[in-house]
Amino acid sequence: MKKKRVAILISGRGSNMMALVEAAVAPDFPAEIALVLSNRPDAAGLDWAASRGIRTASIDHKTYGKDREAFERAMQGVLEDNSIDLVCLAGFMRVLTPWFVAQWQGRMLNIHPALLPSYRGLHTHERALEDGVKIHGCTVHFVVPEMDAGPIILQAAVPVEDSDDADALAARVLTQEHRIYPQALALVAADKLRIEGNRVLMRA
Ligand code: GAR
Repeated sequence: MKKKRVAILISGRGSNMMALVEAAVAPDFPAEIALVLSNRPDAAGLDWAASRGIRTASIDHKTYGKDREAFERAMQGVLEDNSIDLVCLAGFMRVLTPWFVAQWQGRMLNIHPALLPSYRGLHTHERALEDGVKIHGCTVHFVVPEMDAGPIILQAAVPVEDSDDADALAARVLTQEHRIYPQALALVAADKLRIEGNRVLMRA
């Protein structure tokens, strides 16, 4: 099967992007990382990706002011120029419009540092600790217009330890993010999944 061409969208350090790139090195991985795109020209992950021979691009959202769709149309142009099949959001900290999400329906994944539908939004680890939950974790899901929602592909649970602060908990969750994001991408790229309502099921 022809490998799917993947663009990874980042805003910062890009550790999930790195995990995806490392996984995609395997000859039998069903996707290749064709592009790393950032909305911040200074994103640390860009240099790393370039050093691995991956095409990079940055489109500074600030140039577009409040016009989100103009920013997204610029991104869409770059994605189309690179014949991208699948988009992985990896710490991409921009809210996306319904227009952009519709372009990638069923073809755009996100990783979120919580067990959705709990703790959508920011500061998930702090909020989990404040609530005293004993199980936290991370989620890979298909992107829908509503933020941090959408059919769940994979989740990993992380026990909360008595000694945890937000940083310690975040670090253990991040390790699991790096494990499940490549797995989820492989399942999608190999066309092993089907979506039924909110549920993502294995194809028979
Ligand atoms: C990750 O923990 C990711 O789950 C989170 O940002 C971090 C990015 O780190 N994403 C979100 O909070 C999106 N709602 P990374 O740049 O090292 O991958």
